[in-house]
Amino acid sequence: MHKMLSCLRGRVRYVSTTLTPSARASETYTNPSSTPEPAVSTSPQNIAPEQRRILEAALRVDQAGELAANWIYRGQMVILGSHPKVGPLIQTMWDQEKHHLAVMDKLRIQHRVRPTILSDIAKTAGFGLGVATALMGKEAAMACTEAVETVIGEHYDDQLKDIETLSSSHPSVRILSTIIQEFRDDELEHLNTAVNHHSQRAPAHALLSTVVSCGCKMAIELCKRF
Ligand SMILES: [Fe+2]
Ligand SMILES: [Fe+2]
Repeated sequence: MHKMLSCLRGRVRYVSTTLTPSARASETYTNPSSTPEPAVSTSPQNIAPEQRRILEAALRVDQAGELAANWIYRGQMVILGSHPKVGPLIQTMWDQEKHHLAVMDKLRIQHRVRPTILSDIAKTAGFGLGVATALMGKEAAMACTEAVETVIGEHYDDQLKDIETLSSSHPSVRILSTIIQEFRDDELEHLNTAVNHHSQRAPAHALLSTVVSCGCKMAIELCKRF
């Protein structure tokens, strides 16, 4: 995990097209003063059916993952929100997940991708996981974050390779790639935060990590398809 963290750190996270160097690419979707441009309002029309399938699966699973992440943090906040140390930490990560979800919702609509039919299950499972791990203690809540963000960070990193196979030079594909890099780095920051706040001191850390990781990987495969 730490090896992956160091491997992935420091990669480009800014879009290199028409945005100012200091802007996060994803803010183009959430900043009301942004002017609509083809990169954020159109979808490539000239890609092969297989490439369209890759794009649709990517956006469907990413939107579902951000939805579930929001509900995990929501569940953790119910139990630990008033904790003086971890409450603000969890809130900060949740706020970033809210931004991720808002952007993924817009990307999904832009590229006309249907949402997963498993949205309600993702919300319920995420909320349950957040509450359950928070009830086990703040270290277990952080261990949950560590496991989830490891899987999601790897998922986004793998997905970048899939996006690179899209032959389209359409600007929406370029900005999507930049946003996935940006979100991957955010998820790895969350992972780092969890480790720095003693996730590995959680009771039955190895078992908890395995269960949460396997659940996340299974959910990713299901949401790609359904
Ligand atoms: Fe996220
Ligand atoms: Fe995250």
